[in-house]
Amino acid sequence: MSDRPPIVVQDLTMAYGSRVIQQGLNFQIQRGEIFVIMGGSGCGKSTLLRHLIGLQTPARGQVLIQGQDFWAAEEASRRLLQRQFGVLFQSGALWSSMTLNENVGLIIEQHCPELSPAEIAELAAFKLALVGLRGFDDYYPSEISGGMKKRAGLARALAMDPQILFIDEPSAGLDPISSKNLDDLILALRDSLGATVVMVTHELPSIFGIADRAVFLDAKTKTQLALGSPQDLLAHGQPQLREFLTRGQTEMEQQA
Ligand SMILES: Nc1ncnc2c1ncn2[C@@H]1O[C@H](COP(=O)(O)OP(=O)(O)O)[C@@H](O)[C@H]1O
Ligand SMILES: [Mg+2]
Repeated sequence: MSDRPPIVVQDLTMAYGSRVIQQGLNFQIQRGEIFVIMGGSGCGKSTLLRHLIGLQTPARGQVLIQGQDFWAAEEASRRLLQRQFGVLFQSGALWSSMTLNENVGLIIEQHCPELSPAEIAELAAFKLALVGLRGFDDYYPSEISGGMKKRAGLARALAMDPQILFIDEPSAGLDPISSKNLDDLILALRDSLGATVVMVTHELPSIFGIADRAVFLDAKTKTQLALGSPQDLLAHGQPQLREFLTRGQTEMEQQA
């Protein structure tokens, strides 16, 4: 493994047509860290995630993956870089007509068509066990809870042993306890797999619970307002950032 940071963002401007969403973004994501992209609704978090995984082209600037300029690379190299990614999208729905094992197995089959159905099913069962769903192989998505669906989505994202795991708003639609359990799972997976995790969230318990560092995108100025550990940002951040990090605090204290 190289010592290069898995992801470097340089002077990145993101836009839809002539509408700029964020400009001048600069940060590096270190190997093995849980890096959070945070900010209010509509500030460009999901858009940034799509830029990091090569689904959207920068209006300006670069995204380097393992030191390689993603968009300057040939198509074949880009595909190779993307093989290291596992992604759980915000809308990360499972295929409802397939069991959990089949949902994960389909991804494995697409990448490794040489494997037998039994080998694929065994690998899929292993991935489900990794996310705490041992024994749920034959369940259909409609038969399990929201938190378990997210876990199954994670198992699917982990199907090809990614070095970098991207997760968009994992706790959306989950109750606080399921959300906390999912955060604990993400932390455990980072520790056991040694993966780098890039997570989009605006949830304070997740940010303070598992983020090593975070970048805050400000919708008003369309810039990255701050970068650092949540604790440092809370202590030394700009007023609007501290407001973001302390909002609804009494609710949180009641839940804790
Ligand atoms: N496909 C698209 N075309 C045009 N505008 C978009 C598209 N997707 C998102 N946007 C706009 O870009 C801004 C950032 O969106 P998004 O990245 O989804 O924000 P977040 O994930 O932080 O809530 C929003 O104003 C949104 O309306
Ligand atoms: Mg979003």
